[in-house]
Amino acid sequence: MTTTNQFLKPITFVKNKNISVGGCDTVELVEKYGTPLYVIDEATLRQVCRDYKNAFKNYPHAKMMYASKALCTSAISKIIDDEGFGFDAVSIGELFTILNSGISLEKVLFNGNNKTERELDFAIKNNIGRISVDNFAEVDLISKVAGRYDKNVDVLLRVTPGIECHTHEYIQTGQLDSKFGFDLSQVDDVITKITTEHQNIIIRGLHAHIGSQIFEPQCFHDEIDVLIQEISRIDEKFGILLDEINIGGGLGVKYTEQDAPPSINVIANVIIESLEKHIKKYNTEPPTLYLEPGRSIISTSGVTLYTIGSMKQVPNMTKYVTVDGGMADNPRPSMYQAEYLAEIANDTSDRTLEKVTIAGKFCESGDILIKDILLPSPQTGDILCVFNTGAYNYSMSSNYNRAEKSAMVLVNNSQSDMIVKRESLDDLISHDIIPDRLK
Ligand code: LLP
Repeated sequence: MTTTNQFLKPITFVKNKNISVGGCDTVELVEKYGTPLYVIDEATLRQVCRDYKNAFKNYPHAKMMYASKALCTSAISKIIDDEGFGFDAVSIGELFTILNSGISLEKVLFNGNNKTERELDFAIKNNIGRISVDNFAEVDLISKVAGRYDKNVDVLLRVTPGIECHTHEYIQTGQLDSKFGFDLSQVDDVITKITTEHQNIIIRGLHAHIGSQIFEPQCFHDEIDVLIQEISRIDEKFGILLDEINIGGGLGVKYTEQDAPPSINVIANVIIESLEKHIKKYNTEPPTLYLEPGRSIISTSGVTLYTIGSMKQVPNMTKYVTVDGGMADNPRPSMYQAEYLAEIANDTSDRTLEKVTIAGKFCESGDILIKDILLPSPQTGDILCVFNTGAYNYSMSSNYNRAEKSAMVLVNNSQSDMIVKRESLDDLISHDIIPDRLK
């Protein structure tokens, strides 16, 4: 069975004359909200959450924690919460956004390799559900802050299981030489430190994350192998039976026709089989399983709409078609050579196909969104719809070249609601200060 992460376009995508998403005509959305415009299809987002729940329904101890780094806004948090997911947060900004959306931080796991005292204070004061401990210094800091509030804090230990997946090297995190988490050889020391020095820290389980945009189910199998073996070793050595395992996120999505990510069901079956094998082998109770998917939850529901502006035909070479956004709203192509698919959103029925390169408007030659794509001969004023931009686009966007960050709308059942306002010129200078001596 196909699951939503295997779709290139939102499930409500329709192309009649114009493209519509969530029952909303994209050309009308652009007239109303301008471009560049992030559009999130609520039906796709909810469907993928249900795909996950459905895939894990035979393992009732599974808990989904949406990795909010993929896209964290107040409205998105509301929908994710409404679908019964918890959250993985990595900064005070994400924690604040989630809390401010009326969601208890008890549903949140706090991750990160350098959580500051301010961040830990905010998390612990607001009853964070779990903290994933990343390093020795953090143990002392957590204990100090917990003491301040006279609280016990439930933690997972983040470890690097040494699994390498075939994904872009910048987004691999589970390999041994990593800035994240404890090397397996350090686990005994951290357990000893916590159990002997810090009674207010309760170790609940282990946590790992092996990479992002993963297509190989075997990676998750191997990861679980390592984690469960480690749990059993800890039980033997310390007599502490950890009953929570967090395998991170990482499931891939389909950015281009060539991409073939496995379905959520295939991944779930590998994970559940692997867990059950170990439960039998070690004769233990089924552990609570946390998953932290980010990209596979939000990516497919998002498209970005741009207006096509200038064009340049280099004689006998590339034809550049430039849009009114680029690396400031989607840095992924320039950072990771990420590939995207796009279509012209307005009616192009009478045009012939042409090979073009979609360039961004920012002052860098590397600001190319899509190389060599066939489109019905693009014209100035056309609306370009780029697919699968829900994850790590807005969340990694910048004000480069003093660009105002784009607006985001949520579409559903032919209704559109703005969920992030477009930044204004005043917003851009609102933090600037001219010292008196320069006035
Ligand atoms: N859990 C942990 C501890 C993580 O570090 C990450 C992602 C996730 C969960 C969610 O992974 P996902 O399901 O989204 O693959 N900016 C890059 C992706 C960086 C991912 C970092 N960690 C990109 O745009 O491809």
